[in-house]
Amino acid sequence: MDYMNSGMRYTPKTDRDWDPAVQFLPASDNKKLEKKKGPGKIGAVIGIVIFAAVIALMTGLLVWHFHFRKNVRVKKLYSGSMRITNQVFEDAYENPNSTEFKALAKQVATQLRAIYTKSPQLAKYYVGSTVQAFSEGSVMAYCLSEFDVPASQEAAVDKVMATLDKLVDKEQRSIKKNSNALVFEDVVSSALDTRLISTSFDDFLRFSQHTRSNHIASIKSPGFPNKPYPANTFMQWQLRADQGYVIKLDFDNFNLEENCKNDFVKIYDSLVAIESRVMDEMCGYVSPSQPMTFLSSSNVMLVTLATNEKKNFPGFQAHVSQIQRGSKELACGGQLRGVSGTFTSPNYPNYYQPRIVCEWNIEVPTGKVVKITFSKFLLAEPGQEKGTDCRKDYVEIEGKKVCGEKEAGEVTEVSKTNKMSVVFLSDRSYVDRGFSASYEAIDSKDPCPAQFKCATQRCVKSQLRCDGWNDCGDMSDELNCKCKSNHIQCKNGLCKPDFWKCDGVDDCGDKTDEQDCGGCKSGEVMCRNSKCVSEKKRCDGRDDCGDGSDELDCSRGDVRCTDLTYRCKNNKCISKVNPECDGTLDCEDGSDEANCDCGRNLFKTSRIVGGQEAEQGEFPWQVSLHIKGFGHVCGASIISPQWLVTAAHCVQDDAKTRYSQPGTWEAFFGLHTQRQNGKTVVKKNLKQVISHPNYNAYTYDNDIALMELDSPLTFTDYIRPICLPAAQHVFAVGNSVWITGWGATREGGSAASVLQKAQVRIINRKVCDKLMGGQITSRMMCAGVLTGGVDACQGDSGGPLSYPSGSHMFLAGVVSWGDGCARRNKPGIYTTITKFRGWIQEKTKV
Ligand code: ARG
Repeated sequence: MDYMNSGMRYTPKTDRDWDPAVQFLPASDNKKLEKKKGPGKIGAVIGIVIFAAVIALMTGLLVWHFHFRKNVRVKKLYSGSMRITNQVFEDAYENPNSTEFKALAKQVATQLRAIYTKSPQLAKYYVGSTVQAFSEGSVMAYCLSEFDVPASQEAAVDKVMATLDKLVDKEQRSIKKNSNALVFEDVVSSALDTRLISTSFDDFLRFSQHTRSNHIASIKSPGFPNKPYPANTFMQWQLRADQGYVIKLDFDNFNLEENCKNDFVKIYDSLVAIESRVMDEMCGYVSPSQPMTFLSSSNVMLVTLATNEKKNFPGFQAHVSQIQRGSKELACGGQLRGVSGTFTSPNYPNYYQPRIVCEWNIEVPTGKVVKITFSKFLLAEPGQEKGTDCRKDYVEIEGKKVCGEKEAGEVTEVSKTNKMSVVFLSDRSYVDRGFSASYEAIDSKDPCPAQFKCATQRCVKSQLRCDGWNDCGDMSDELNCKCKSNHIQCKNGLCKPDFWKCDGVDDCGDKTDEQDCGGCKSGEVMCRNSKCVSEKKRCDGRDDCGDGSDELDCSRGDVRCTDLTYRCKNNKCISKVNPECDGTLDCEDGSDEANCDCGRNLFKTSRIVGGQEAEQGEFPWQVSLHIKGFGHVCGASIISPQWLVTAAHCVQDDAKTRYSQPGTWEAFFGLHTQRQNGKTVVKKNLKQVISHPNYNAYTYDNDIALMELDSPLTFTDYIRPICLPAAQHVFAVGNSVWITGWGATREGGSAASVLQKAQVRIINRKVCDKLMGGQITSRMMCAGVLTGGVDACQGDSGGPLSYPSGSHMFLAGVVSWGDGCARRNKPGIYTTITKFRGWIQEKTKV
């Protein structure tokens, strides 16, 4: 049939004949089209015209790109301040609407114009300057200057502006004779934070506050605490105190988005946003129990809040008061005498002031020397936490500078005589919480009585010498050791606890602890089942070990399936160990990287015994299980919108309570502090409780249960699932894992109100079984810190043992039991999730 004539040309007969490229060609006039048997003259002309037009357009774009784009101009804003020495401050200068303000502002702007237009690099681009504020001393002027700069000249203009003080000096010398001119001194200037220019704010809000003595004013973000702060808004609070006073800013509440790229508060030691006067930049959440106050260096301070369109939070509230210069509260330094004592940086544990120098002179009885130890040391500028070059804030002890962030006890110094001088200096930008130090008189011949002296001068308990842990911080307590009987002697001289031998982790650092593990000869490798096979047999496609472990982690893609290999959804097996959610597609069908939206918190990335408070949203899979009308009893983990994993021992009935019934429970999600049900918290009832049929109440074997919710969860930043590991997933001994919960913070102690977290290590099964008197079954795993002090405890049961692997956390275990809490050589015992992967899948389809 002639399709052309029958008009059926584009009618597909089958799916295979369907040519999608022509199927939807628009034919305005079918008849005309049908008659044409090839491209006609008109068609050719149209084609040529279109072709020419495309070429012209492309050429135009290229020309624009290479020629004119260079001339794209950017708006640059510089903020700065200067001291006008030949004027006297008047109260009217505080009010920008007063005639006095306007007159002086005009004079400043005129003089600035004169300065800028004399500079060949700036003159062409200068747009104008405005004075934002004045303050005392004699008169400080705060300005904003705008330039319209070709993109290529941006860096050059920045450079000139950074040394504006030089330009001003030059200009001032030439106008000295003119007595009416303002005399500028202490000129500073820097480019405005780019986030304030590039972001398109819908609104600018400006507040000012002059605080007086005996009066505490308050500032808060708009809407606090009832409504979130406004989106896309730049807000600033100009704070002033009387002359001779400094400002104290005291935050009661602080709750912003976690990412400072989006919303942030910046505090300046100035009245305009001069970058070289930033005291701190903050975002995220600060617990109201943590004090947070800032002090200015003079009688002005600026607080700014910038927000974008995404996620707006409750905001902040702070109190503003003034403190007289020279008052006790601000005092620092002095003479310290006696055999021991303590001192701190001013305003500790709050932020010290910018621009201060303090000096302490310590003197102990003659014949002794001074030893100083810092239990807290926080003197870090952003990005300078390590504190390698101390060009900003520092502490100087007998001429040696220390800065950055240090661990407790890390900074310890001993003097040569019975005197020691300690100087603390803070520069003009970025402040921190400072330090807390103690000093004592010691005998120079015996600086660590009955203790071990580290190379760093620090003293540690003698028992900690050669125990396998780095207690000194510089390893000096672990060098040149004669190991005790329960320790391995590493070749490099270190001692490590016996139970780390042959656990697959190089604890010695020179692999001594991983040699002679079961006697495989050289040229042989050890199988998971402890058999030895020739190295050549690894990855040869044949199961020489008998358990398939010689065929794991081979470069070949798919292999024969064994108990140890990962099974993809298409039932093919791969030899890679732990391929799930590691960011590489290993299965042909991609199933190893499917369902990976789990085990991640949306924040950065600051009870359990020996732990610390978790950050809000740090463990969003953590659930608090409450008995209705009673409160928190157990923990659990979210594994899907409708299912939780907990411990079977949490859901066993007793004489009084029917723990096995769903109606007994309510589950809390997104919870941080017990009894504080903020916006992030969701409460749900249960539909079903499934305890493992083989749970043994005497041995705690198979201590696992599932809970189904009566309605699915909606995941948020604070509520998300943890990844379930495949049955073959390996949780290697020696690796660090997180335990979390609201359980007791001490054996026999009371429960925590804020979610606690602690880090423990996975412990060798054989060693653990020995330590726990042979009670460890293959469904249990051990984790802890064998020196004691860190563990889960009553009330943590059912909660997760979270194993970080790449960028995801996997549910390795469920808190099950222990011998007391945090005792030495008594690890915590957890239900091994991998053993129940099949059962979980069967019951929940997850
Ligand atoms: N069984 C306890 C509970 O119900 C948890 C015990 C965990 N103990 C330990 N030492 N790790 O909360």
